Amino acid sequence: MNEAVPRYQRIERWIKDGMSGGRWRQGERLPSIRALCQQHGCAKITIQHALQRLEAQGLIESRERSGFFVSTRADKTEGRGQSFQAPKEFHQIESPQPVSVSEVFRDIMTRSAAFDLTPSLQSGETPHGIVTLNRSIGRALRRQKGDYQYYDEPAGDPGLRKALSLLASRRGWKADPAELCITSGCQQSLFLALLAICSEGDVVAVESPGFYGVLQLLEQLRLKVIEVPTSLQTGMDVSALEAILQRWPVRACVVSPNFATPGGALMPEDARRKLIELANVHDMAVIEDDIYAETAWTDVPDPLKSLDHSGRVVHCSSLSKILSRDLRLGWVSGGRWHARILQMKLTSQLASCRFVQQGVTSFIEEGGYAAFTRKFRLQLREQRNQLLEHLATWPFPLRVTEPEGGLAVWIELPQPVNTIEVYRVALSEGIVITPGSLFSVSERYAHCLRIGFAHPWVAQRTQALKRLSELLQEQ
Ligand SMILES: Cc1ncc(COP(=O)(O)O)c(C=O)c1O
Repeated sequence: MNEAVPRYQRIERWIKDGMSGGRWRQGERLPSIRALCQQHGCAKITIQHALQRLEAQGLIESRERSGFFVSTRADKTEGRGQSFQAPKEFHQIESPQPVSVSEVFRDIMTRSAAFDLTPSLQSGETPHGIVTLNRSIGRALRRQKGDYQYYDEPAGDPGLRKALSLLASRRGWKADPAELCITSGCQQSLFLALLAICSEGDVVAVESPGFYGVLQLLEQLRLKVIEVPTSLQTGMDVSALEAILQRWPVRACVVSPNFATPGGALMPEDARRKLIELANVHDMAVIEDDIYAETAWTDVPDPLKSLDHSGRVVHCSSLSKILSRDLRLGWVSGGRWHARILQMKLTSQLASCRFVQQGVTSFIEEGGYAAFTRKFRLQLREQRNQLLEHLATWPFPLRVTEPEGGLAVWIELPQPVNTIEVYRVALSEGIVITPGSLFSVSERYAHCLRIGFAHPWVAQRTQALKRLSELLQEQ
């Protein structure tokens, strides 16, 4: 097994293999922690970490004073995992090129941002955590006296920046609140970062497949794109990036090391370190889009920023994917470009809404955020499993990612299918999919699509999924 993979993950994999290979069957007890420590020659904490992760995935259950047992649902989750092959990767590199996003793409992008197959469906009850959040914001609004006559400081509310820096410190990044600037979402953070770092005509490297919102930004800012081959499991291929850097001057690289959209890839630590090393050698900025990290249902991975000692990583994120898109609250930590980013925010927006920031700050400080995210992550895991179980019933061959976080899976269909065509037909029936073509400037992913699991699989949504498989089959 690859030594670059952390030890607890290797042990986790070993136990998973043992379960799928029949060494331990459903309901059977796993060896004790002490026995596992002896067998693997490692510390108790390493074994506990691996077991915790398996438990969080629903593969094992802990029983008081009896140890860990293979879950009776384990074969469902893990067995299904073996029924899908990972989507294929591409390896060829093309020259940098200008970005031109067509109108049809713009239309799809607007609808697809919702991650929902059936956006017209009335959502059910508001989760308890969101009710608490709304109350918190309401209280902050009522507390306003004459404050509404003033602008907030351009960097954003100091209380919120402090709360965010505390959250960051739990992920290995000691962020000084002065290093953070509040924005109206991760998209704005990415925009400010690109604006501060690049000039017209500069080349920006992006993941392929990668986030379509970045392609739109590159188009607007008249920047050139170069697509870096990207694994749907381990993220951007840093060796390919290195080859690119030897041929072209790349000003910045936009990357999502934690659960990148569309497939939920997680970049291993050695690749992260190599990326930063390349940035230093080639004088390149790394714009980290960390928006999905907190959706992880096992461990929330550290940001790339935690490895940055030269101020080359610009960290961008928001609360959109883990709490609410409607808050329009994000942040950016601009490293060596921070002063310029602040200036850009001031020029373009003056300030952010103060009572929303204060309400969110109280929500975080009073533990509402931690409680909400804990519950939401389990819900996401369950919804991902339900989606994969449904996909396993589709009557044609598929390659599907099985991410451990994020909000979507990436599906590769047999080649002749064009998912833009399917998008058009599905839309006429009120079903919205995200076609693969959106995730690249090439037509490379025309036979792929992204499906979200951010919403519960209520009957109408499951019905839409079934209908989608019929439409794909007709193609
Ligand atoms: C990878 C990625 N980055 C950024 C954004 C924009 O997020 P926000 O709502 O915070 O502007 C999205 C939204 O879909 C996204 O998927």
